[in-house]
Amino acid sequence: MIYLDNAATSFPKPKEVLAKIDKCFKSIGGSPGRGAHLTSLEAGRVVLGAREAMAQLLEAGNPENIIFTANATEALNLAIKGSVRDGDTVVTTSVEHNSVYRPLEYLAEHHQVKVMRAANFSNGDLNLAHFKELIEKSPDLAVVTHASNVIGNILPIEEIAAITRKAKVPLLVDAAQTAGSVPISIEKMGVDMLAFAGHKALLGPPGTGGLYIGPGVAVRELKQGGTGGASKDGQPKIRPDRYESGTPNTWGIGGLGAAVKFISKIGVENIYLEENRKMKKLLSGLERISGIKIYGPNPSEQRVSLVSLRAKKIDSGELAYLLDKNYGIATRAGYHCAPEAHQTLGTYDTGTLRLSPGYFSTDEDIEAVVQAIDELSHRTPLR
Ligand SMILES: Cc1ncc(COP(=O)(O)O)c(C=O)c1O
Repeated sequence: MIYLDNAATSFPKPKEVLAKIDKCFKSIGGSPGRGAHLTSLEAGRVVLGAREAMAQLLEAGNPENIIFTANATEALNLAIKGSVRDGDTVVTTSVEHNSVYRPLEYLAEHHQVKVMRAANFSNGDLNLAHFKELIEKSPDLAVVTHASNVIGNILPIEEIAAITRKAKVPLLVDAAQTAGSVPISIEKMGVDMLAFAGHKALLGPPGTGGLYIGPGVAVRELKQGGTGGASKDGQPKIRPDRYESGTPNTWGIGGLGAAVKFISKIGVENIYLEENRKMKKLLSGLERISGIKIYGPNPSEQRVSLVSLRAKKIDSGELAYLLDKNYGIATRAGYHCAPEAHQTLGTYDTGTLRLSPGYFSTDEDIEAVVQAIDELSHRTPLR
């Protein structure tokens, strides 16, 4: 199999991830913070080690501000629903994932929350003038993706954060597509909250993700329950306990910690350059194919490793099906859970085919997919 669907979830994972999960499976049977026996203490160390590694990778300061969740969706729900109140106003962009839009739509429907969307240009760039205009209306929260999962462009978070900070509007960044493959320094960016997916470019297992919550940022927890300590008291106010009720995914978090250490050893900057090289190789191969249209920003612009395209003669769904069936190439077709990004791109009618090479994709994988698309894009459609 040639796997080019890393924007959905990355594959393969570093062998260190498997080794850590295997070690947990064989020898760490306890639950962190629940019991004074050796294996519970060891489980606690696994989770703490991952939290520290994550805080260091994101330059997030105190590891207690990193909250582990099941995925980026859960992190975004916590950040959005935990900070917005009835009747509040939220500013967002026109390229967000449904993990941002749907919680906002829910709040609009059930809690009279007003949602304003800043415009993006057709290459995905945010219209900063329009964004600033909306932020100057003093909304209660701004939610901005770091990189679109359909278009691939990376948004200028430091510039965006300067605008929100000046207006004293808390900023939540969706880093699902960037954490692990684009250098992130929360301290330098000056963001208030940042959601990440552990299972994408961070190379961790499925069922992992998290949220950074800035030290002074007030967020209500969405669930209450056992946290292991202070059982006679109410829900703890200390972090991360306040937000992590219930037995955590210790083995998965351990695997994520191992993945983060693997990434730190290579350096995110080097990962970005390597993925960028592959993405450019893919783009230059695809550009030579006459029957397709490629979307997104110029290759020289800052972008993550994904390409959206459409073939003139063959529907994207059929193309993905034939790539998989005839060539063993895994890609993704459709809307990629981000319909608004397709409005921005002008592909709302049928979506796009998305190719997303990862750190472990080879040059041969790229050459094979270019050749396969060249062959398929000129054939007569099935229907
Ligand atoms: C930009 C963006 N945000 C959020 C998500 C949701 O991530 P998860 O699947 O970890 O919940 C995705 C996943 O595709 C994404 O691309």
